[in-house]
Amino acid sequence: MSAIKTYIDEHKDRFIDELIELLKIPSISADPSYEKDVHKTAELVKSRLIEAGLENAKLCETDGYPIVFGSKIVDPALPTIMVYGHYDVQPADPIELWDSPPFEPVIKATEIHPEGAIFARGACDDKGQMYMTVKAFEYMLSQGELPCNVKFMIEGEEEVGSANLQTFVEEYKSELDCDIILICDTGIISNDTPSITVGLRGMSYVEVEVTGPNRDLHSGLYGGAVANPINILCNMISSMTDENNQITIPGFYDRVVELSKEERDEFAKAPFSKSEYMSDLEIDDVHGEEGYTTLERNSVRPTLDVNGIWGGYIGEGAKTVLPSKAYAKISMRLVPNQVSTEITKLFTDHFHQIAPPGVKVKVKPHHSGEPFVTPTDFPGYEAASNAMEHTYGKKPIPMRSGGSIPIVAMFEKELGVKSILMGFGLDSDKIHSPNEHYGVFNYLKGIETIPHFFKNYAELKNNG
Ligand code: BES
Ligand code: MN
Ligand code: MN
Repeated sequence: MSAIKTYIDEHKDRFIDELIELLKIPSISADPSYEKDVHKTAELVKSRLIEAGLENAKLCETDGYPIVFGSKIVDPALPTIMVYGHYDVQPADPIELWDSPPFEPVIKATEIHPEGAIFARGACDDKGQMYMTVKAFEYMLSQGELPCNVKFMIEGEEEVGSANLQTFVEEYKSELDCDIILICDTGIISNDTPSITVGLRGMSYVEVEVTGPNRDLHSGLYGGAVANPINILCNMISSMTDENNQITIPGFYDRVVELSKEERDEFAKAPFSKSEYMSDLEIDDVHGEEGYTTLERNSVRPTLDVNGIWGGYIGEGAKTVLPSKAYAKISMRLVPNQVSTEITKLFTDHFHQIAPPGVKVKVKPHHSGEPFVTPTDFPGYEAASNAMEHTYGKKPIPMRSGGSIPIVAMFEKELGVKSILMGFGLDSDKIHSPNEHYGVFNYLKGIETIPHFFKNYAELKNNG
């Protein structure tokens, strides 16, 4: 057995216990009532990094939650890998749909994870995946085999749009100097089919407000004669996609890069079963833009989705009211070469344009991020691909994902450094949903694979 496998075998119970302790703290960045817990989690991540051998790990304060940062420079002549991850998690709601409490981790076997999976909010996204990098680092140091310099940058606001990261990156630019960034915060196709993420979608997120009359009205006395902002908002939203499920905002597709025939053929090779997809979600058909496959729709095509909509009376029973206001949160996922600020502006102008007389509208931009694609012919990708090929016995497939990690495009712009998205989660791990979990197999496989990535990268850089 290889040294790393032996090490994992000896320490796996501790690796799991340590992750469980981290998962017990509800570090929900979106909800201010968890502020103490988010800070506590940052402290714990810092201590764990120090214990693993990153002696200078510290908390860097921002206008929001702190960033855990530290470095181990073994030899300035060696290449430097910066690990990025996040210690914050999504809210656990709807809490009643969890089979066990979201912050009381339990290990249970599932069909996909017969060897067990850890159930908790953040188990996969991203505490479990982030912690693999810490344990891989511990292993390398314990063997005196750290083949590269390493920096860790673990933030606490990823799930709310990383608003304070731009300033941090600008301020700490020289400390963040590195050759490549490793991010374990994405997934693989399946435990038999490893993949590496080579593209992410960008994001433009807005909140809209539609105001009708100056107060809630009796819907009998006024109904039919005054614009109902909820009815109007629904019409406005539905007019933003056409019969082919294309987005109707003028200019929305202007910059979208269409895939070539070769790229589409390449895409079609990724294993995908539409019937399994539908049965997993208990839907009787898929839905999306005409002329594109499901895999294309959820990764290389832009979207417009309502994430939440509210207004009027939603309490028990019935209340006949014509509301004064209606609201919606809307996210648009962007693909190369769309630019988030442009899309936000196109949306805002269009939303004002289509508002009928009788209502006033407001659009408030939230967070945004740029889309990202990376080539596969450079040392970082090769090092990751060879590492996975070694530990899975199969060459990983390059895949574009539909999710967003806005920092990736920002790192490239601000630091001129590329990121490797070597994640180990599965789509079925239910990230952001009730019963999020992370396979014990995936967790340990990640810890095993990361040191190979370090070693391969050092070798490729030395020979290149
Ligand atoms: N780790 C996810 C993104 C992800 C998951 C990418 C799986 C690819 C595969 C990340 O934590 C996330 O949830 N990002 C947000 C964006 C953010 C701006 C709130 C997202 O994609 O909704
Ligand atoms: Mn994440
Ligand atoms: Mn997330």
